[in-house]
Amino acid sequence: VNVEGRVAALLAAWTGIELSSTSTPALAAFLRERTHALGLTSPSSYPTALGGPDSVEFQRLVNAMTVTYTWFFRDLEQVETMRALLARATRPSLDIWIPGCASGEDAYTVALLCRELGISAQVLGTDVNSTAIAVAREGRYGEWSVRDVPQASRQYFARSSRGGFELDASVRSRVRFQVHNLLASPPLPPSGGWDLVLCRNVLMYFGKERAKLTVGTLGRVLHDEGRLLLGASDVMVEVPGELSVEYVSGRVTFRRGGVRSAFEPVPLPPLARPEATRIPDAGTVEPDAAIEARPTLLEVAHAHLMAGRLDLALSTYQTLCAADPFATEPRLFAGVAKYLAGDLQPALEAFRACLLLDEKCWPASYYLGLCYENMGLPRDALREYRRAAKQSAVDSTARDGDPRSPLHGFFRDVAWLARKRSALPDLPGASGKA
Ligand SMILES: C[S@@+](CC[C@H](N)C(=O)[O-])C[C@H]1O[C@@H](n2cnc3c(N)ncnc32)[C@H](O)[C@@H]1O
Repeated sequence: VNVEGRVAALLAAWTGIELSSTSTPALAAFLRERTHALGLTSPSSYPTALGGPDSVEFQRLVNAMTVTYTWFFRDLEQVETMRALLARATRPSLDIWIPGCASGEDAYTVALLCRELGISAQVLGTDVNSTAIAVAREGRYGEWSVRDVPQASRQYFARSSRGGFELDASVRSRVRFQVHNLLASPPLPPSGGWDLVLCRNVLMYFGKERAKLTVGTLGRVLHDEGRLLLGASDVMVEVPGELSVEYVSGRVTFRRGGVRSAFEPVPLPPLARPEATRIPDAGTVEPDAAIEARPTLLEVAHAHLMAGRLDLALSTYQTLCAADPFATEPRLFAGVAKYLAGDLQPALEAFRACLLLDEKCWPASYYLGLCYENMGLPRDALREYRRAAKQSAVDSTARDGDPRSPLHGFFRDVAWLARKRSALPDLPGASGKA
């Protein structure tokens, strides 16, 4: 194993973060820079110079290799789920933990929601990246970070004489920040359990087994009525048995207790053509009608995807790809399933393959953009969003959706999202954090 591999293995062992192949150049550059700064004879001495997981040098490595990309009110649909959860909370004062909060936007977003709802709450934001936590404590943000802040919350942001926007003291006083590694024992509030834990876009950097163990830990520190929320790209194929799933405002939340897995029947939005997934009893239906009504393998795969059965969906799409190597749709959705399972690199490869087959497959461009964005490559992301927006503008499926498809609305929604993301001002890739 080369030195990059050894350092990546230490990073994975001590933080859970499994670097993707796109991070290799960044790691190699970091090792070159540190070899020089520490006066080492060669990068191969770096693992020894690194010290243990509590060393200053390891913190430096973590700060360099973590992707801290985030913004206020990220994932507006999930914000609605949080609003619904907070609105129905019964305890007089809530304890909320945001692990992996990066530069703090998620933590302040929740504090802003609590303020808007008149709920008393103490929010703790934690992250393994100490530089990000320093930014969070400062509470000053650039235009890019605040782009999605709704009108009602804008009053809490004031232009700072030092540039950017500063959060109002009434919001900041509800939030504190701490450097914390999710692999260490979890913090607990004085009340003994958290009312809400929001851990978004963190577990996607972990290996599957580590992610599952971490979800179990996050579940154990909840109050009896507390809720755990993960990010849309952190969908777990396997949820620890001690957690049960409840959908709130259309999004998955976890709570303690119960043995229900995420993949037993769940109240998903109805399929546009529910009969498509019901195989008629051959004895009661005319043979032609039975064939007509039988779902295609692609529809079965889509139904698995919509129900969150990502492994089944993926294997069905892969069967279809093997049967017709030139079919773009199963390849596109195989990528979506991989993306939802948090496997960014394989997802990225599936979308690229899809675009090689059909360069006009704009949903693949949009999802490729999402992969890049989550990998901390905003310029590449913006290029793909723009491509998706341009192509979708001349495709009628993007406008109307296909009312016969079980994924009715999917293409239309993706087209809308692509337009929205591509119309944003230039992503701040070169200038680092917004
Ligand atoms: C992409 S950011 C997500 C920020 C925010 N939650 C959001 O969804 O926008 C991922 C964050 O997870 C943090 N992280 C990764 N591994 C961690 C660990 N073992 N413990 C705590 N934080 C971790 C990184 O430092 C980074 O700031």
